[in-house]
Amino acid sequence: ELRDNTIIIVFGASGDLAKKKTFPALFGLYRDGYLPKDVKIIGYARTKMEEVDFHKRVTQYIKNPDEDQEVVAKIDEFKKISTYISGGYEDDASFENLESHLKVLESGRLSKERNRVFYLALPPSVFIPVAGRVKKLNYSEDGVNRIIVEKPFGKDLESSRKLLGSLKQYWTEDETFRIDHYLGKEMVKNILVLRFANIALSAAWDKNSISSVQITFKEEFGTEGRGGYFDEFGIIRDILQNHLLQVLTVLTMERPVSFAAEDIRDEKVKVLRAIPPIAKEHTLLGQYVAANGKPGYLDDNTVPPNSTCPTFAATTLWINNPRWEGVPFILKAGKAMNDAKVEVRIQFKDVTSGIFKDVARNELVLRIQPSESVYLKLNTKMPGLYTRAMPTEMDLTYKRRFADNKIPEAYEALILDALKGDHSNFVRQDELDYAWKIFTPILHWIEGKDGIAPKPSPYPYGSRGPNIDAFVRKYGYIRSS
Ligand code: BG6
Repeated sequence: ELRDNTIIIVFGASGDLAKKKTFPALFGLYRDGYLPKDVKIIGYARTKMEEVDFHKRVTQYIKNPDEDQEVVAKIDEFKKISTYISGGYEDDASFENLESHLKVLESGRLSKERNRVFYLALPPSVFIPVAGRVKKLNYSEDGVNRIIVEKPFGKDLESSRKLLGSLKQYWTEDETFRIDHYLGKEMVKNILVLRFANIALSAAWDKNSISSVQITFKEEFGTEGRGGYFDEFGIIRDILQNHLLQVLTVLTMERPVSFAAEDIRDEKVKVLRAIPPIAKEHTLLGQYVAANGKPGYLDDNTVPPNSTCPTFAATTLWINNPRWEGVPFILKAGKAMNDAKVEVRIQFKDVTSGIFKDVARNELVLRIQPSESVYLKLNTKMPGLYTRAMPTEMDLTYKRRFADNKIPEAYEALILDALKGDHSNFVRQDELDYAWKIFTPILHWIEGKDGIAPKPSPYPYGSRGPNIDAFVRKYGYIRSS
């Protein structure tokens, strides 16, 4: 249910996330008529800035490639509902000032209802100070309050529990929306439909038919400009522990009883509980070095000169339940690679040897980005006067099949869910806890907590990563042509 009379307050409004994702998504929702009636948006940040300058910034990040006049008009309207105020994150006076601003915006309303959504696009250091002050000074007694938060949620199991514990003093689970933006991606949301609305797929969705699953994330750029943040977290916390693990849980959970958020999240938690912690023996770490005219990770002056922080990691895990026992799940993620791509590859087993020997394995590929698609590698009789099997593809490329459908941005989908109070695509507290349990031992090992920190293998900027084919082959994956 969307609630009228809502104000959305974006903390960190001059930061990267707000500019690149939050505001463009809010605008996208506004343009398409999805925001509640009478919605107002407040940008809040430390930077002192006139409202016109704030509006200028916001418009710069809104995509309007053809200078479409209708969009230009919508941008003008959007500016009218958006205001900006600057303030600190750790002093009550700033939040009292915000409260007066909120009251002014709310004063012209007929309805007494006052709903507030607080979006924290903030670094973890001010997370609790803001969450606490907002609760104390800006909490609406006449409506619904919600808080949207973004990773990093701690650095390991212990720090995550501490952070969540502090947050819980102020905000209930029901009011809290923890974003993992991969859950808002169209193709990730499609997994549920593919799996549970197709008997042909659900019947083959287990260890009897599937030989291995790979979930791959590749980016073409390095950590330039964010070295300071990245070095503290590394690729496992940045991508694997959240985005790739979330994709994995949706791929492997049992069918939820209903679409209700808690039914879905209960199933996700069950499958996470069946995954033992990742072992170092099954993990490959890499760090990119200068190549092709691009700098190495250590060339960034915000990165400590001897950093052993991995910018690439591949790891294999198993799920100890009857459906998945013995099936390797290979998770790979890297920065500064040869390609920008996120995909899931489900490789089926060989046909039992008999009339067809040496035929390619079936493979179902879900391309999450770019160019969303689903394709199935299938053996087909090569047309002609003799019988020979040849590998082909059944290809569902969204651009072709759904040329007229707009594919929503992940943040549009998630912000709308949060406005409606739907938690299905947000991370529940226990889910996060189990995710950290799986990754905490390997993270501690990587950081040298049990001895000397392992040195990641170097790989050139723009390459496929350190010796990745050998790693994948170890788990029985056969590279198809
Ligand atoms: C973020 C990571 O969570 O996801 C970034 O912190 C990464 O390092 C980004 O670049 C990738 O998101 P997307 O939607 O571009 O795949």
